[in-house]
Amino acid sequence: MSQDQIPRMKKKLIMDVDTGVDDAMAIMMALAAPDVELLGITCCHGNTPLENVLKNTLRVLKICNRLDVPVYRGCAEPLVAHKRHAGDFHGKDGLGDVPDPDAPGLQLLQKEKAVEAIIKMVNDNPGEVSLVATAPLTNLAMAVKLDPSLPERLKALYIMGGNTESRGNTTVCGEFNFVADSEAAYVVLDRYTCPTYIATWEFSCRSSLPWSFVDTWLAQDTDKARFMERISCHTRKMVQTERYQKELVSGPGFNSCDTYAVAAAISDTLLTESEQVAVTVELGGTYTRGMMVLDYMELLKKTHKAFIMKTVDLEKFKQMLMDALK
Ligand code: RIB
Ligand code: CA
Repeated sequence: MSQDQIPRMKKKLIMDVDTGVDDAMAIMMALAAPDVELLGITCCHGNTPLENVLKNTLRVLKICNRLDVPVYRGCAEPLVAHKRHAGDFHGKDGLGDVPDPDAPGLQLLQKEKAVEAIIKMVNDNPGEVSLVATAPLTNLAMAVKLDPSLPERLKALYIMGGNTESRGNTTVCGEFNFVADSEAAYVVLDRYTCPTYIATWEFSCRSSLPWSFVDTWLAQDTDKARFMERISCHTRKMVQTERYQKELVSGPGFNSCDTYAVAAAISDTLLTESEQVAVTVELGGTYTRGMMVLDYMELLKKTHKAFIMKTVDLEKFKQMLMDALK
């Protein structure tokens, strides 16, 4: 039997999302990956209130004909912080304010809550599950508080969040996911000692794609591409306004934030450069609350070091995005 005839073990993923537009891209990328089994999607407050996140996630699964993927209700608010959303960017409903009159109803949600579901799915598949977190980390923080040994049974954790040069997209020094629930981000970076890969705000900006690629990407003659064109219209307009140009780290470009984390979980060869460093999150700073702190001097004596993503194979990444809408 030749190499390509040997059935490859499927990668098992759980995605924790706050479906907004880039979370939708990330979910569609995971569903399009041939050797990935998406065990379930857990929903969290974030880009939009939880009820919208749940509806939006089901809408994405519907356009992908994958309503078989279990969706779980998670935390509707942060551990301590006041709730914040990103409605101006993702649209009030979180998916570009282009409602679907035939959207799937919330009766399709699983009865089990997200935190218990994460614990169960990981414990049922010890050492095999990669957890991809593209939302504020409230659900993950609750999960490790409920089951402190959970990270030992995780294959890996992939996070979109945080920053390396104190660049903010939400506050002066804060990236949205780590600002929306700073305590949860602190707990997760402290307690998840499994291999952890972090796609930070600056990394995602520097890995942005040309808008000319987006034209090609959305021009595919598929229902998924037409869906993505509709839901991303608002954010594509917003990101080119002066207000959003200020937050960009490296000039204009299409930054699909969440997809970098899921792409790294799907493809073993996507990540081309990373650095390993102990990290934590500032909780008290007037200007710096939610900022990720990198302990290069090892003063914090943290044995666990995260992989901070630096560069990816952008040609492979583009192909994964194209496949997501095929
Ligand atoms: O800062 C970008 C992150 O915040 C992305 O996950 C986006 O979806 C928002 O949740
Ligand atoms: Ca997100």
